[in-house]
Amino acid sequence: MAKTKNKIEYACQECGARYSKWHGRCTNCGTWDSLVEEEVVAEQVKAVKSMSITTDMPEIVRMGEVDVSKLSRTVTQFAELNLVLGGGLVDRQVVLFSGEPGIGKSTLLLQLSVYLSKQGQSTLYVSGEESASQVVSRAARLFPKQDYDGVLFVAMTGVRKLLEDIGEHKPEFVVIDSIQTLFDEEVGSLPGSLAQIKSCTALLVTAAKSMGFVLIIVGHINKEGTIAGPKVLEHLVDTVLQFEGENTGEYRLLRVLKNRFGSTGEVGVFKMGESGLADIDSLENLFVGEAAAAVGAATTMVLEGARPLLVQVQALATPSVFSYPKRVAEGVSGNRLELICAVLQKFTGAKVMDKDIYVRSTGGYKINSASCDLAIAAAILSSVYGRELDSRRVFVGEVTLSGNLHINSFTSSKFGTIAKFGIKSIVTAPTSYSKKGTSPIVVSSLTSVRQLEHQVKG
Ligand code: TYD
Ligand code: MG
Repeated sequence: MAKTKNKIEYACQECGARYSKWHGRCTNCGTWDSLVEEEVVAEQVKAVKSMSITTDMPEIVRMGEVDVSKLSRTVTQFAELNLVLGGGLVDRQVVLFSGEPGIGKSTLLLQLSVYLSKQGQSTLYVSGEESASQVVSRAARLFPKQDYDGVLFVAMTGVRKLLEDIGEHKPEFVVIDSIQTLFDEEVGSLPGSLAQIKSCTALLVTAAKSMGFVLIIVGHINKEGTIAGPKVLEHLVDTVLQFEGENTGEYRLLRVLKNRFGSTGEVGVFKMGESGLADIDSLENLFVGEAAAAVGAATTMVLEGARPLLVQVQALATPSVFSYPKRVAEGVSGNRLELICAVLQKFTGAKVMDKDIYVRSTGGYKINSASCDLAIAAAILSSVYGRELDSRRVFVGEVTLSGNLHINSFTSSKFGTIAKFGIKSIVTAPTSYSKKGTSPIVVSSLTSVRQLEHQVKG
């Protein structure tokens, strides 16, 4: 009996779960109204199956015969990108480059394409979002013509025609901007749907592995960072990079969420300026907005992997006109702010229960670590008492519910490395950190928020 060729299934656009019947709510991730009808095309299944065969015809070998000499890496012009990649781009590597719209993905990849083309690599930039004139006018603003002259460009969305063109031009480096705009005419759903994104990616990955080019695929994610597209692609690619930051801010963080060719702990820091993105200067005072000293601003240190970054926390305390005071947190957890306010109310003389308190981190940096509690508390106390805090004094430590302070030894082991940012002193919890050699940093330990209050009041 002949089977029907194309089966209809319903796929959740959030998590990728598939159902044979339509439901109002995805039972896998709980999202309402996210199931969309999709045709399962035999062709698509074939493409996904062929994915596991990375190169032509592998043979069974003894492990001892495998050549493990160093991976050959293409070093890029961005030290920060090389760092997160684990040294540079590897042959036939497939990278998913995700981030919110407007964060700078196209800019970075255009800069990278121009650089690789100048290094003599045949480079193809595929744009499904912007026209040739839009992309080229951006290139012309950033580079002299002879620099971008050799970069191949095509504005197209049909993936099968694109693969033919790639076969013809044999580029060594291909950028797809973005995967949400590509379209496989053999898949019966709209561009941007899960079936389309998966099918197009599978076809491209197979091509990169068999034809031998480095492939970078741009994938947009939404504010929550959860949209299906890029998330469901993570297992198809070698490396997943995520660009983060505030579109309006100057700094961008590049995180590596997965890497078959390196570690995932690293984070790269870029600066967006007039001439596109650049590595940060290693001496820059990151995310520290205010000048030397300000009321209601405290500097803290956060660890991104093993890398210390400086972030400024700003607080404003004003008399509350409501019976229930306002707590507004931006870039800081609202629960954490409530907790710190409660501890300050209970253990210090700062009467925060009759004040509205606004706290934010600068530069769009999202503070997740509890070791920034002390800086939040210091910024609030600074605003309450109208006392300035020196921005080169760093507050690091966790506030406990008993009003005491705590710091873990991994965090304190990084104290010595922030002297290069011009930091003079660190206020923290009791720590075993001992200053080595000629480090100019003075570490003072406080045991409670009570002592912090005395310090701030002076
Ligand atoms: P873009 O690379 O288009 O973002 P994405 O591809 O992630 O959507 O970046 C857009 C933003 O970057 C836009 O707001 C303008 C800004 N920008 C600069 O600040 N300097 C520059 O040199 C360029 C090219 C862009
Ligand atoms: Mg773009």
